[in-house]
Order: sequence, then C-alpha cells, then structure tokens
Amino acid sequence: MSNRPNAGDVGVPMPPCDHQPRPYTGPDRDELVRLRRRYLNPAIFHYYADPIAIVAGHMQYLWDERGRRYLDALGGVVTVSVGHCHPKITRRLREQVGRLVHTTTIYLHPNVVRLAEALAARLPEGSGLTRSYFTNSGSDSNELAVLMARLHTGRYDILALRSGYHGCSETTLGLTGVGTWKYPNPTPPGIRHVPNAYCYRCPFGARYPGCDLRCAHNIEDVIRYETGGEIAGLIAEPIQGVGGIIVPPREYFEVVYAIVRRYGGLCIADEVQTAWGRTGAHYWGFENFGVLPDIVTMAKGIGNGTPLGACTTRDEIAQVLARRLHFNTFGGNPVSALAGLATLEVVEEEHVQERARRVGAYLKEKLVALQDKHELIGDVRGMGLLLGVELVRDRGTKEPAIDETARVFELARERGLLLGKGGLFGNVLRITPPMCLSEADCDFLAACVDRCLTLAAR
Ligand SMILES: Cc1ncc(COP(=O)(O)O)c(C=O)c1O
Repeated sequence: MSNRPNAGDVGVPMPPCDHQPRPYTGPDRDELVRLRRRYLNPAIFHYYADPIAIVAGHMQYLWDERGRRYLDALGGVVTVSVGHCHPKITRRLREQVGRLVHTTTIYLHPNVVRLAEALAARLPEGSGLTRSYFTNSGSDSNELAVLMARLHTGRYDILALRSGYHGCSETTLGLTGVGTWKYPNPTPPGIRHVPNAYCYRCPFGARYPGCDLRCAHNIEDVIRYETGGEIAGLIAEPIQGVGGIIVPPREYFEVVYAIVRRYGGLCIADEVQTAWGRTGAHYWGFENFGVLPDIVTMAKGIGNGTPLGACTTRDEIAQVLARRLHFNTFGGNPVSALAGLATLEVVEEEHVQERARRVGAYLKEKLVALQDKHELIGDVRGMGLLLGVELVRDRGTKEPAIDETARVFELARERGLLLGKGGLFGNVLRITPPMCLSEADCDFLAACVDRCLTLAAR
C-alpha cells in the first residue's frame, strides 16, 4: 500500500502502519459521486475538486476505496479525538449494540447516568456544573444553552463573537459570526455580535498587549448601545475553530465574563472543539483562560465519532427546563453514552491530554519553523492539537491567500495528508488530528505542508 497516494516528492515518508483494512466491496468512487449528486441535498458539500471516498479508518489513518492511506490531520471533523475505530471503544460499542441500541430516556439506563456523573466529576470542583442534558450534536447543545440562559435570566439578548461558529440550526446559525455560513435571512431576534480577539487581524487595528484588550471592553459598549442594558448571556468558544483557530490573550475571558455578569448575563462556553484535552493542558478549553462558565456545551470529539453532545450547567439553571415538557429522542441513548464513557476512559488511560500537549508543541514548533522559509505563512497559532496556519499573499497587507490555500489543500491530499480549512476567507489550514498522532506523523505532516507550500507559491 502506498504511503503517498499520487506523488512521491515529500522527503519524509508517512510512518508505516500495520493495520490492513478489509477490502472494500461497495460502489466505486464515480458511482458514489453520481449517487451523491443525484440524491443528496446539494448543500452537503465535499472537500476537494476531485472528491475522495473514505471507507476505512484506524487511529490517525484513513483509507480510500482503492486502499490508499491518508494521515487524517482533521480528525474526522474534529470528531475523532482518540483515534478512528479505537479498538477499546469499538469493542465496547459492539457489546452494547448487541445488547440494546435504543429505547428512550423515559426508562432508566446506567450509561447515561454514568456519563453524566463522569462529566460532573471532571468539571472544576465546586463549580456546581453537575447537571447534564445529552444531545446528538453541538447545535443541539447550544440551542439548549441559549434556551436555558434566556429562561433562567428572564432576558433575551445573547451576545456572540465574530468568527464564532455555533452550528447550523436557526438559532445557532444566528449566533455564528462567519458570513460564509450565513444565508440572507435576518438574524433571529436577540442576537448581537461583538468583535473577537483576533490579534493577527485586530478589529481595532491595535496591537496586544498595548491594546488594553479593546475588543473585550467593547462588549460593554455593545450592551449599553444595543440592548436595554440587561442580557441573557454570551456564548463563545475558548478557541475559535471554524473561524480559523483564533486564540485570545490569556486574560481576555476574565474581562469578558466580568462584563457579561455585570449586566446580568450567563457565560456559555462552547467546548464543542476544545473539550477533553485537545488544548493539551486541561479537560476544558476555558481552563486555559482562568474562568468558570455557567453553562458548558460539548459535542464532536466527546463520542470519538458517534453522535453525542451535552449541555452541562448548575442545578438552579437546569431547573428552568423542567417547567415544561422537554425531550430529545436520541439524546443520551445507550450507545452514544457508552461511546462517551469509553472515550473518556481512553483519554485518561492513554494520557491523551499530555500527548496533545507534547505532540502539539512538537508540531507547532515545526510549523513555526516553516514560517522562515515560506512567505505565504502569515501566522501559526493554536494550543495542543488544535492548530492553525493562516496563509497570506503579503505579510504587510495580510491579503488572504485564498487560492494558494486551496492549492495546498489539494496538493496535500495528493500526497496523503488530509487537512482542514477555515477562517472567513478559507485561508487558514486547520490541523486537528486524532490525538494519538505521533512525532513521526508530525515529521511527515510538516514535510508535506512544506512541499505543498513550495508548489503552491509557484
Ligand atoms: C465550536 C462549535 N460549536 C458548535 C458546532 C456545531 O456542531 P454540530 O455540527 O454537531 O451541530 C460546531 C461544529 O463545527 C463547532 O465547531
């Protein structure tokens, strides 16, 4: 099996892998393209001009229908936290699927309560963040968070950050602050966007730390000018993922949370990409910024690829939902809840946070080193294994290198590396691999990006 599907010009080979997926016997790629074009909603977009079929996965690697192997630097879509088809999780899921797939949370089941207990034990001690509602996605979880914040405070206005991404349902699309994801419908009432801490492209043209965090303080102006002075809350990702891996300064959230609370709002941390160790140091992204949210939402990697989301909050906030009937058919089902439990076990047994920190730092150093060689690299940022490389045509004007990024993306795929793409202009390479990534994988990844940048700049 080839390490480099279509090209052999990356100096460092992809590390060997013993796993041999079972032969694929389904429709060929062209047939998949035909069926997709005919029957799927055209909004369901694919990566790559020449889309690839992915039919098998093992840990940090994926295979296409012809048996070519890829290093998955996107980790599903930040959904596969500890490895594709991780053997322990797969074994536990097989047992569960053979026993009971679904009934409803109307009946008791151990998996859902065990997972809720495990979450409560891993949120900061004394935080009171002990009440979980399980869902199927990040959008679901964020919808719930906003609903509870509004009911609990008796207020309606929710603030969200520019460059934030919170989902594709009506409310969460409204909360999303990246124009490429928005339709020309009006934003739902009660949503206000505030500038984010995008230091590389500061919305105020200022420079940290001399800026005195104008972006954070500006939130107070938005509340004063645009609301009645009372808000239901603010939702923010600790590190913005889809928006381009944007990491705010360490003290940013302390300022923001204080303002939000001064105006009666709750602070919602959208941990859909950052939860459970991806940032390398803690279970939760917010812990990197010394703050404690009132509501925490999570999804994606917590189920290692199974549909699992959660919204966890304090008892008095959670109580508001019990005023009426509230229900989620698949939320908290035995299979997804078990996937969450098994993923958490692996995170701990395999010291995944520590690995994300160590391997992430190793990779970031290599990417930063590439900046000396490639004018195209404007900025390298991120924490742990949540990394971004912003490409620009000109380091002075910071003109986004949109076509070049697209080219790097395609060239990398031809060499066996699957990257993610983000940012308002699609000019940020997103690197969020399964956290079992090795240093040898990083060597290949960096060499491949190096080669692709050289080719893309020509
Ligand atoms: C930070 C964040 N929040 C929410 C969502 C929405 O999650 P889902 O697609 O599972 O609804 C995403 C998805 O990318 C996300 O990155």
